[in-house]
Amino acid sequence: MRSSTGPPGCGKGTQSPVIKDEYCLCHLATGDMLRAAVAAGTPLGMEAKKAMESGALVSDEIVVGLINEAMDRPECSRGFILDGFPRTLPQAEKLDEMLEQRHKKIDAVLNFDVPDSLLVERITGRLIHPSSGRSYHERFAPPKVPGKDDITGEPLVRRKDDNAETLKARLAAFHSQTAPLIEFYKQRVAIIDAAKPQEEVAKQIRNAMA
Ligand code: AP5
Ligand code: ZN
Repeated sequence: MRSSTGPPGCGKGTQSPVIKDEYCLCHLATGDMLRAAVAAGTPLGMEAKKAMESGALVSDEIVVGLINEAMDRPECSRGFILDGFPRTLPQAEKLDEMLEQRHKKIDAVLNFDVPDSLLVERITGRLIHPSSGRSYHERFAPPKVPGKDDITGEPLVRRKDDNAETLKARLAAFHSQTAPLIEFYKQRVAIIDAAKPQEEVAKQIRNAMA
């Protein structure tokens, strides 16, 4: 089991599919799960929506419940990569419990390090393909046809929380609630210099996983 953590726009969602494919792991991203629940209008989605749009964290109870359920999917039996979870100390403690119950353990924690100053451009230039979660960037990773997903040709959209104002709140939540987890995981954490171009970041991840 691997966990990738880091601030909004650091590259968790971009790199997780690379790890997933190379190591045959399941990709569990709490942000993607929550956005799917919001789009489907489920009661859980309605509860999460307000926090997500303001850039605050959703309750520990909701995200722990989502991960607890997802871990038991048959396709996750070989192991999984957690993208954006845990994000608070109570989530990390709960994760330890959930793994222990399943006789699993964390093999690596990847901390994507990027200065805040680079994140505004990454976030405000991001485009996503909603149903697959694939992300692009207007400047750094443009789609082959502007505004269209490379694989399906479907339209790309901007996330509602991808604006400079909400990013400030997301960064504040990251620094106050998530960054302290680096200390919690200090024995297992690998620091990835995620300010580098995507291919170089992927190389560092392969080295950290070797
Ligand atoms: P979530 O979806 O996890 O958002 P986030 O943490 O803000 O992270 P992002 O998805 O914005 O960034 P990313 O690191 O995936 O960046 P990406 O690879 O796309 O969570 C959304 C919300 O849900 C939270 O705010 C919260 O409300 C809630 N939530 C989720 N999990 C929760 C939890 N555990 N507890 C409580 N609440 C939770 O890259 C960004 C852009 O940069 C892309 O355009 C990409 O193409 C580009 N890019 C990527 N890498 C590079 C590179 N190396 N060089 C140049 N450009 C790059
Ligand atoms: Zn993401």
